[in-house]
Amino acid sequence: MKTGPVHSLDAHYYTDPQIYRKELEGLLATTWQFAGHEAWLQKSGDYFCFEIAGQNLFCLRDQDGVVRAFYNVCQHRAHELLSDAGNARLIVCPYHAWTYELTGALRSGPNIRSVSGFHRDSVCLSSVRVESFLGFLFVNLDPDARPMDEWFPNAREELSAFVPNIKDLEPLEWVNVHENCNWKVSVENYSECYHCQLNHPTFSSGIIKADTYDIQPQGHCLRHTTECQNLEAMSYPVDLDANIHAGDYSSWFLWPLFSFQVYPGNVLNTYHWRPTDVDQVVVWRGWYTVGGEDSEVVRRLALQDRGTTVEEDIHLVESVQRGLNSRGYRPGPLVVDPACGVQSEHSIRVLQDWMRNAIEGY
Ligand code: FES
Ligand SMILES: [Fe+2]
Repeated sequence: MKTGPVHSLDAHYYTDPQIYRKELEGLLATTWQFAGHEAWLQKSGDYFCFEIAGQNLFCLRDQDGVVRAFYNVCQHRAHELLSDAGNARLIVCPYHAWTYELTGALRSGPNIRSVSGFHRDSVCLSSVRVESFLGFLFVNLDPDARPMDEWFPNAREELSAFVPNIKDLEPLEWVNVHENCNWKVSVENYSECYHCQLNHPTFSSGIIKADTYDIQPQGHCLRHTTECQNLEAMSYPVDLDANIHAGDYSSWFLWPLFSFQVYPGNVLNTYHWRPTDVDQVVVWRGWYTVGGEDSEVVRRLALQDRGTTVEEDIHLVESVQRGLNSRGYRPGPLVVDPACGVQSEHSIRVLQDWMRNAIEGY
């Protein structure tokens, strides 16, 4: 069978506001999305609000210690219930004081007993699927969504091996990176290292051994693996004897908008892409330490990463977005090498298949 090269996605996938709308309503509402960290829900009644796919939501820890997520809307006449973050024994709507248990059950409302035929237990908050992935809370607006372990096989086990203390980690710092491009341009840039040697001198020569770099799909996870080099010349101390993965780098991109990345020394950091418009995305880089303890080493690493790899990528993705608006662009062939490896865009082919299906499937 003769097959020609696979071409990159058409430019309008990255520039058309209607496609962006479709993604919000379809893809983002049916995939696992990062909500926040369990460290923000230490005690019963702790809650935090967040937004996904244009929907206002909140997570809380109930009296039994169970983490729950709900749409942030009162079932009486639709006032929002909570804002920001805090602690509450009950959820009281600010409009007419209808009151809900932390389980979402309606507890009381002024004068509701006078309504004939109304049963209190016929009303409760609309809940949303939530999963803790090693302390990271993800929600899915699709009630029938398959669990995360089916979407991202083996990722949980592998990540626990690469970051043995992951369950004790808490966020130390969030570095907020604004990019003038469609979220898919930024995610694609993250998902190939064909551009690394030319554009990321620190990363390519200081951390990874480029000719060993590869990215392979694992369900809907794209797993990055590589050997490392120059571990003696790292800008922070790495105790290679601490555990079997102490000298390793790896990353797990969880389709569509989140990635766990581990630097040598078991240093966990994360990417959370948050699209804000068809040509705007904010990338939250998260950095973690045990108990959220301050660490000069991690803070310096976050700064170094912001000043090198992240900065280098901003210029690339913003130039691509301008190029996608050019009348002169016709999508070129992806460089898919059957042998894979760092000089191949096989991972982009997989990613663009997911992107195309996500848009055409709804
Ligand atoms: S809208 Fe919440 S009590 Fe009326
Ligand atoms: Fe890059």
